[in-house]
Amino acid sequence: MCGIVGYAGRRDAAPVLLGGLQKLEYRGYDSAGVAVFEGGSLHIVRKKGRVKELAEALSLKGNVGVGHTRWATHGAPSERNAHPHTYGKFTLVHNGIIENALALKEECIARGEKFSSDTDTEVIAHLISWFYNGDFAVAVRAAAKRLAGSYALAVLCADFPDAIVCVRMKSPLIVGKGADGAYVASDLPAIAGEGVEAYALEDGDIAILRAEELSLYDGDLRPVKREKMQYSCREDAPELCGFRHFMKKEMAEIPVALRRAPLSAEGGNDGLAEALCRAEFIEIVACGTAYHAGLCAKHAFEGLCRVPTEVTVASEYRYRDPIVPRRTLCIAVSQSGETADTLAAAQLARERGAYLAAVTNVAYSSLTRMADAVLFTQAGREIAVAATKSFNAQLTVLYGLAARRAAALGIAAPPLEGLSVAAEGALAAAEGVRSWTPHFLSGKSVFFLGRGADYCTALEGSLKLKEITYLPSEGYPAGELKHGTLALIEKNTPVVAVVTQAALAEKTMNAVHEVYARGAKVFLVTSFAELARREEVTAAVVLPPCPEEYSPAVAVIPLQALAYYVAVARGNDPDKPRNLAKSVTVE
Ligand code: M6R
Repeated sequence: MCGIVGYAGRRDAAPVLLGGLQKLEYRGYDSAGVAVFEGGSLHIVRKKGRVKELAEALSLKGNVGVGHTRWATHGAPSERNAHPHTYGKFTLVHNGIIENALALKEECIARGEKFSSDTDTEVIAHLISWFYNGDFAVAVRAAAKRLAGSYALAVLCADFPDAIVCVRMKSPLIVGKGADGAYVASDLPAIAGEGVEAYALEDGDIAILRAEELSLYDGDLRPVKREKMQYSCREDAPELCGFRHFMKKEMAEIPVALRRAPLSAEGGNDGLAEALCRAEFIEIVACGTAYHAGLCAKHAFEGLCRVPTEVTVASEYRYRDPIVPRRTLCIAVSQSGETADTLAAAQLARERGAYLAAVTNVAYSSLTRMADAVLFTQAGREIAVAATKSFNAQLTVLYGLAARRAAALGIAAPPLEGLSVAAEGALAAAEGVRSWTPHFLSGKSVFFLGRGADYCTALEGSLKLKEITYLPSEGYPAGELKHGTLALIEKNTPVVAVVTQAALAEKTMNAVHEVYARGAKVFLVTSFAELARREEVTAAVVLPPCPEEYSPAVAVIPLQALAYYVAVARGNDPDKPRNLAKSVTVE
């Protein structure tokens, strides 16, 4: 989390830094800051809140500087804890978490050093200062060697006002060289618009940025070459194109994403084709929405081609001493390809012998570099913190893999190509949920029910609602309700039921009846028009035809829309929910 930028060149640094930070705000937005050398002396502007609060920094005239947009881990969101942090001659911005910060801080305090923030970051400036004997890069390298955890750093030194020294470990960092200077950022879009040749640093790499040159070194300060990143100008910040929020725009892009995704499902390489067909066990690791995509895919892998499939939350998998049976195909699913827990879980599965396939939306991510094969979801850049189109696209790619395995067994799976048309119909029908919003404004808990794959859709609907509306909500297996949760249902409690699986439809409707009998207001998302007419149902969205094996990719759309409309009605910004960030690059 957190986004960092830096620029050393011939232009004014402040607008470059602020422009970059705006494109990185999806990584965190509780405070922000920049530091710019102006005539040899450093000026720092730090503010609580979003990047737009830094407007006064635009008056700074200087060509070298760094910037930061924060998602707080150590220390409350405040100006005091906002980056850049300074000690002695060194000022720096940091993305990551320093796990041994406390021990290091005690060492510094024992030397008589004083701290001015509650962050783990400040200790890095102290360490660099301690190791400094006139060589900037050597001091940064020496300090980095003492750090445990993850970090991407961009460091300024008062003795070298023309330079920025960067280093990374387990946190992404992209450097670039353009005609007017050198750039660094946590993510490519922050600098892609500058027309630079960009390079992804690897763990331990050190980069030195100056107006005239960009120099790359390994962790022992030996010059290294890194592969030039291939990207198009589309990596630049996308526009709202008339939509009020990115979330709504990204939902509107679902049909296009679903048109592209099946092509990915056929892709990968020969190694993947072999691993897929030989797999005796599939392990899916992911977090959040991507985890829910994995849960939906389990139904397809087991239902269509009978391969035993487990889906594990990556943060659990990585610390669980997992069993990796022979011929395991591990599929790591991650929109960003940078989620720290997913990377660690995927790495562990691979070390234990699994073939690692990545399903990701970001071509140049850390996950793509680690995987044996990569399937791009091709959903296009997703800005809103709440994942929408990437989920639908992940599902399509995963269903495509299941269909490929089924085909190898001689089983004909339903075609994926119609999903895009079904998604268009679902988007149109989902407009109807706008009229449901008054029932969701009371602040009461909301329940999402389903069975089988519908339960997985319910989980995703519940996550979407809670993360942008801040309403307590729970996704529940419909059959499990009466074992405890039914006690929470009272008059007017909103309950959303998802019913797309023919064999389970009446079973779920039993649960609907039970909550209705206890006063709940029932909202239905279903493929079966006749269910919408039942007396228990307050309102319903009837979905267009879609093979039920793939229905979550379509049934989730009205639930995404519900979360969006309720968030807007409650006065929330659905693109930037409180306490969250788009990429969780720390544990
Ligand atoms: O980039 P990833 O797919 O790895 O991200 C995983 C989760 O952090 C993400 O899906 C999160 O749950 C979303 N905010 C949900 O909308």
